[in-house]
Order: sequence, then structure tokens, then C-alpha cells
Amino acid sequence: MNKLSLVSFVLLMATVFSCKSDINQNEKDKFKTSSIESKVDSLMRLMTLEEKIGQTVMYSGGWSVTGPVVSSDNLKYIKEGNVGAMLNVYSVKGTRDLQKIAVEQTRLGIPLLFGYDVIHGFKTIFPINLGLAASWDLKDIEKGSRIAATEASAEGIHWTFAPMVDIARDPRWGRISEGAGEDVYLGSEITKAYVKGFQGNDLSKHNTILACAKHFVGYGAAQAGRDYHTVNMGMDELRNVYLPPFKAAVDSGVETFMTAFNEINGVPATGNKFIFRDILRDEWGFNGFVVTDYTAINEMVEHGFAENEKHATELAIKAGIDQDMMSSANRLYLKELVDEGKVDVALINEACRRILLTKYKLGLFDDPYKYCDEQREKETIYKPEFLEAARKSAAMSSVLLKNEERTLPLNKNQTIALIGPLVKDKENIIGNWAGAGDRNGKAISVYQGIQEYLKDSKILFAKGCEIEGEDRKGFAKAINMAKKADKIVMVLGEDYDMSGEAASRTDIKLPGVQTELIKAIRSAVPNKKIILVLMNGRPLDLSEEDTLADAILETWFPGTSGGFGIADVLFGMYNPSGKLPVTFPRNIGQIPIYYNMKNTGRPIPSDNPKEDYKSNYIDVPNTPLYPFGYGLSYTTFEYSKIKLSSETISFSDILTASVTITNTGDYDGHEVVQCYIHDKVGSITRPVKELKGFQKIFLKKGESKTISFEISAKDLEFYNNQKFTVEPGIFEIAIKGTSDFDFVASFKLE
Ligand code: NOJ
Repeated sequence: MNKLSLVSFVLLMATVFSCKSDINQNEKDKFKTSSIESKVDSLMRLMTLEEKIGQTVMYSGGWSVTGPVVSSDNLKYIKEGNVGAMLNVYSVKGTRDLQKIAVEQTRLGIPLLFGYDVIHGFKTIFPINLGLAASWDLKDIEKGSRIAATEASAEGIHWTFAPMVDIARDPRWGRISEGAGEDVYLGSEITKAYVKGFQGNDLSKHNTILACAKHFVGYGAAQAGRDYHTVNMGMDELRNVYLPPFKAAVDSGVETFMTAFNEINGVPATGNKFIFRDILRDEWGFNGFVVTDYTAINEMVEHGFAENEKHATELAIKAGIDQDMMSSANRLYLKELVDEGKVDVALINEACRRILLTKYKLGLFDDPYKYCDEQREKETIYKPEFLEAARKSAAMSSVLLKNEERTLPLNKNQTIALIGPLVKDKENIIGNWAGAGDRNGKAISVYQGIQEYLKDSKILFAKGCEIEGEDRKGFAKAINMAKKADKIVMVLGEDYDMSGEAASRTDIKLPGVQTELIKAIRSAVPNKKIILVLMNGRPLDLSEEDTLADAILETWFPGTSGGFGIADVLFGMYNPSGKLPVTFPRNIGQIPIYYNMKNTGRPIPSDNPKEDYKSNYIDVPNTPLYPFGYGLSYTTFEYSKIKLSSETISFSDILTASVTITNTGDYDGHEVVQCYIHDKVGSITRPVKELKGFQKIFLKKGESKTISFEISAKDLEFYNNQKFTVEPGIFEIAIKGTSDFDFVASFKLE
């Protein structure tokens, strides 16, 4: 067939029909109205095996000052119709130029798919995902990802490699920053919010993008918190902890999945039939497509699972992997594998078909340039309402960890010393995986945020030290400023690239001499209030800081409008409502530590936690420094005793559990009301606590609200013995504002 110059699939099909002159008008009309499935089938009938393989190939572009750059090799492959998708290419011009090649210079004119890591914002950067999770605000998370999709799609992006829904319980692991933390229920709810936000309810709209649930599966359980490391886990943990957020993604209609880099129980995820074919496809009925993580096919050789890259290619396609990100494996070996009879062509048809279907759903065949509109690009990026939304998210994500003697909020009539390497920072504040966000550009520093509340004459500043390094030369000035001020706000934390991919740490304390700086200031001004504002991508060991600061505000990396959001909290414009989505240990030796551990046969007695021969440490308590679900407010909330609709329920009943919450303090505020249960006896042991619901409520001071949770047998099920099961027995239940409590109520399921 001659080279076709096609600008859209309508044209493509016109060509298809013109090739077949015997097709009459009726049939053409029929085609236009036929389902996308049959359109894909028609298209696939025209495709050569090489072109089908081409759809399963993804390459990366690079970026130069003038825009995206694509290597000459990759350009050649695109022209030959051997590439289905590109990552790291964005901007209207960049994507249009490349799309034009795919559409006009390839034989069939099939449009490319442009993917990108839009993780917590595209240009307008929201708090890092762990921070967003701390808001426990599903609507806000959905809104943030809607905004991210709007901006990304205005710059030509069709697909985000997000959300990362890996449960993460090890703060050493750098990618803990990218997820929703340690909890299965919270993680699953947040997953749904992201998918809804990115994909909207109509993928063919120009401002919706494909979401991608990653990394399937177990990536967060990497041994020793070291990135890419081995994962070994039993079926109980896999099914009950690591899989549910992925199932939630499927249930909310996620279009794509990404493989994990790790092996799981000896089989690298990218070659793992059990997780992709048996669970994802057969059991869950997922019908979108699966992309590998970056070069993950080839890595199966290093894993010691494939003899060579060709063998790895065979293993991946057989495991149910549809698209190869950057391994070049499918492009180089798939055809050969088919010719040699090692790979059934049906597997390639299946993969290609899924990818094409997705392109159809996006509407790319109707208009391959629908995401390439300069006007829209100009009008969309950094819209004031997006920056405002990011400001709110930053405030909502902040978690007040300590507030002795009402150190916070600050008032506007005091002189404040702003001390620390992150006070004026505009680079780290947007965090790792910050999409196409400008580092050192658009972000609002804490200093700028505070300037909105305080006259310049009331702000003193000293950097004190760098984030890393041993230099203490700035201490003297910082001490001097602290002496002159009424209160001291120290903004300390990690560098943005100390978390994220390939950024695991074995020391989770504040880096450099930052803790020494607080100590120096504490001893210079023993009676002045020190407020510690933290930016970091993981739970830190803050046991020393906890004894030094009067107030601690965890702001994670709060994003483009972060400085404003933080200042809003510091000055009480927003009453902090964040709750930790992950446990903060006392020290690294406690890891793994999470709220819903098992009880053991020798739990510690609450009246004698140090008792010998019990499951404890001889040097630190078992309890964390700050537990999951914990976070203070400027006001106080009182919880009434829990009321249950019944003490006994049957398998078809619904139990209603209620409490009345009263705002007993001096500020209006939000509270995250959390419902936990404990299945006391199981055919496999159950965790000591499990979150089963939460509601974020707003109470004016003095106001009370009664909040109810409905618990059905479904909420009590767990996986054991190859199936989900609900077992009769006693369940403890509590409704609280933290995971740190003792159960007092229970009900019976019979
Ligand atoms: C590797 C990361 O693991 C993955 O999450 C990301 O989407 C890809 N690189 C593409 O950047």
C-alpha cells in the first residue's frame, strides 16, 4: 500500500475504504457508526505484524531549552510505524510535531500516545502525594488531579503514569513520597479519587487523560526499603494489603497498569503471569492495557529470570504485558519470536488491540491533534484558580504534630525570626516527581507566604545552614536573629531528591547539621517558642526535634503555592486538619512499624510495656513517635461514647456505629473521624486494628455532630485459603480521631 497522508482516523478509514473500491456508501456509514471494537478490528486487518508490534513499543524523548528532543533513531522508528507511544514529550508544539510524523508519514497514520509522569500536578504542583493523602480529603485529591489533567492535556499529554498506589510501610524507601501511605482502606479510597480526577467521566474530552495504576505489584515492600529490591510475601499479605488499592483502581475504571521493577516471590513482576493474567485479567476483568516500567523487560535478565533480552521479551508478552517502555525488546525480538513459533501471534494481536482501543477511547482517531491547541495551552497553564487550589491543598495537607501551650497560630504583631535552609527555597518546595513544574520559578516560598501576613519590619531571616553538609558558619547569625525575635519559625527538611525514585535512605533523621542548628537556638533562647516547619518526602525520625521544638508542622513538600498554604496554617487562616497517612517511628530500628500490625503471642501488657519476654524492645517503646491517623488542630474535639445499632448482627445485616463529636475549643475546624475494627479471632490472625471508614467533617466552635458508619459483612472480609471470607465472631469497633486508642466496644457477627 502507498504511504498515506492521514490527519485523522476519519481520513484513515476513508483511505481504507478507498483502497477497497468495492465498499459502498452503506458500508462506510456502517463503519462510522460501528463500535470502537469493530473499528479496531477493521484497522488491525490492515496492519502488518511489524505495525502491530510497533503499537507495543514506547520510547522516551528528552528535553532541551527549546523543547522536547527525540533521537534520530526514535524518529526513524516512528516514521516506520514502529512506535505506539512516547514518554517525556510534552508542549503543544513538541507533541504536534511528532504526531504529524506519525499521522502523515507512516503507512497507516496511527496517532501516537503521549505519556508523562503527572504525579502531583503538571505545571501547578500540588503537595507530594503522601502530603495529599494526609488531607484525607478525597474531593480535594480528585480536584487536584482534575487540574493536573487539565494542564497536562493542554500541553499535549494523553496519559499520566499515576497514581502510584503501592502501599508503603518503610520510610527508608524514597518512593513512599509518591503514594498514599501505609493503609489499605485509605489507599484504596485515594486511588479512586485520583483515577476519577485524571480520567473524568468521558475520556474522549480534550481535558481528560488516561490514568495508570502502578506499580503492579508489591513495589512498596522492597526489602530493607532499598529501591528495586526483592519482595517476598505470603498470599495473606499480598491479597489483604498490597492488592486492594489496585483492585480499587480497576473498579474505578483505570485504563492502564504499569508493572513493578521488583520480583515478587521469585518472579519479576514484568514476567509474572500470575499477577497479570490470573489476577488482573481473569479474576478482576481488567481490559485496559499494561505497560512495563522503564526498561523492566530487559531487567529480567539481571534479575536472573531470563537468559537474555529475547527470552525476557517472550516472558513479558506471555505474562500479559502489552507495551514495552524503553526496553526495545518488543521492537527487536517479538517478530523473531513469532517466526520461531515461540510466541503466538494472538498475544501480539491482543496487546495491539488493547492499545488501539485506548487510543480510540481518547478520540485520537477522530482528531489526533485534539490535545494540541496553543490557545488552550496559553490559557490553561498556571491559571489563578489552579494556584489557589494548590494553596488550599497545601494547607489541608499540613499535619500539626505538636503544639505546646498554643504556640501556634502566630499573631501578626510579633517579630518572627525565620531560620533555616528552606525558608526562601523555591526549588525543593515542589518536591520530587514535580511534573513539568518550574523549579526556582513560580513557587511561593515560606518567606513569601509569611510576607502576606507580616510586615517586612517584623520578619528577621537567617539561613543558618544548608540542608546537607557540615557548615555551621551561619549558626551565629541565626542565633542572633532568634535573640531579637518574639518567636522563631525554623523551616528545615530534606532536599527534594532525597525521596522519590532511587532515593532510599538508611538514616531518616534531618540531614546535615539542621538538628544541631535547632539545638543551638534552643540553648541560646531557652524560653522562646520555636516552631519547626518541616518539608520532607518520608516519615522522619523526629525524636530529638520533638524535645526541642514547641510546635511542629509537617508540610511535606507542599508545591507551587506551598508558601501561601503554610502561612495560612501558621497564622490560623486555615486550622490544620491533616492526619498522618503513615506512621512516624521513634527511630529507624522500629521499622517496619505501622498501626495495623499483628498482636503476636506475647503482646506487651499496657501497664508494664517493658515486661521481660514480651514482644518489645529493651531500648525504646513499641509505640511510634506519631501514629497513623494522628494530627492536631488549633481547636479540640471531644468524642462521645460509641453507639451501636445492635450488639449482634447477621451476615446480611448492617451495623450502624455512631458517635457525637463536639468542637470544644476556640476555633472552627475540620476533623477526620476514623472508624476502626478489630477481628478478634480469625482462621488467619487479623491485624490489631483496621481502618474501615472515615469522614472529614467541619465543626464550628461549640458545634456538635453525630457521625455514623455503616458496617456490613463485606467490610469484615479478608482473603484466606484462596478466597475472600467473612468469619463469625467478635469484632471490636471504635470511632476516633487517631489510630492510637484502646477499643472498648464490640459486636458479634453470627
Ligand atoms: C520509572 C518509574 O518507576 C515509573 O514510576 C515512571 O512512571 C517511569 N520511570 C517513567 O518515567
